[in-house]
Amino acid sequence: MRHFLTLRDFSKEEILEMIELARQIKAEAKRKEYVPYLKNQTLAMIFEKSSTRTRVSFEVGIYQLGGIGLFLSKNDIQLGRGEPMKDTARVVSRMCDMVMIRTFEQEKLEEFAAYSSVPVINGLTDTYHPVQLMADYLTMIEYDKADSPIVAYVGDGNNMAHSWLMLASKLGFTLRIATPKGYEPNSQIVEEALEFAKKSGALIELLHDPKEAVKGADVVTTDTWISMGQEEEKQKRLKDFQGFQVDSEMMNLAKPDAIFLHCLPAYRGYEVSEEVFEAHANEIFDEAENRLHAQKGVMVWLDRKRRG
Ligand code: CP
Ligand code: NVA
Repeated sequence: MRHFLTLRDFSKEEILEMIELARQIKAEAKRKEYVPYLKNQTLAMIFEKSSTRTRVSFEVGIYQLGGIGLFLSKNDIQLGRGEPMKDTARVVSRMCDMVMIRTFEQEKLEEFAAYSSVPVINGLTDTYHPVQLMADYLTMIEYDKADSPIVAYVGDGNNMAHSWLMLASKLGFTLRIATPKGYEPNSQIVEEALEFAKKSGALIELLHDPKEAVKGADVVTTDTWISMGQEEEKQKRLKDFQGFQVDSEMMNLAKPDAIFLHCLPAYRGYEVSEEVFEAHANEIFDEAENRLHAQKGVMVWLDRKRRG
């Protein structure tokens, strides 16, 4: 049995298998063929943070695959009143077929997985957001940007930056990450990515100049400067990220046909200008829709692995 906690745990071939499944399931769904790959299965969805896309994509996804999703917000379950993660894991996994969790520390997710008797999916932690990257890569394929692309990530060295590091270093493409000083991605994750890159041939560059990162890029992406749980740092962060907004001037440095991706929610006027956001709304909302298809790919893949 496998869990989906970070892309670090998967080979290039496995990531591509999940993407291929997502593509197949998307094509079927577009023909209104909802194949019940997960008939009668129950997906528990535990949320310790807010969500629009993750909740909707998993809940609709499991339903369209023939199963049912159980939305468990921490305010409504005993976890929020201090029931240990490991007890919650042992109870929920005895009743459900798969679990998705959105929480704070990656260690909490790992603890849950260690005590779970069913596959566990990371629906975002402070460290990683791997299900988002599956949708992002699917979108890159659809926009013909998956063949040795240069991807520029501008902004905070956060869970999205870490997930891009894992995707690029596993698949072997060029990733340039530009952050303000003091907001670099976690050095241990960078080390690991550089190690994976040796095998895959990925080129990973860490920069402090966003313009240098975006120059000639095929894909430009960013994320909020204030992630969930960092609300108190807002004023300091807004100051520290000056010059890191993806605006038209910056976007013009990328290739003329470059796409812009954003995991959403987007804060216009901060990490992205209104103009860039609206000019690239097609890509951004294809990416958001692809959460549904990509999440189905991950769930079906995990189910197949469990069955052997
Ligand atoms: N991108 C993303 O995970 O969105 P939500 O926080 O709305 O789930
Ligand atoms: N980095 C953001 C991503 C939101 C989908 C956060 O963790 O809040």
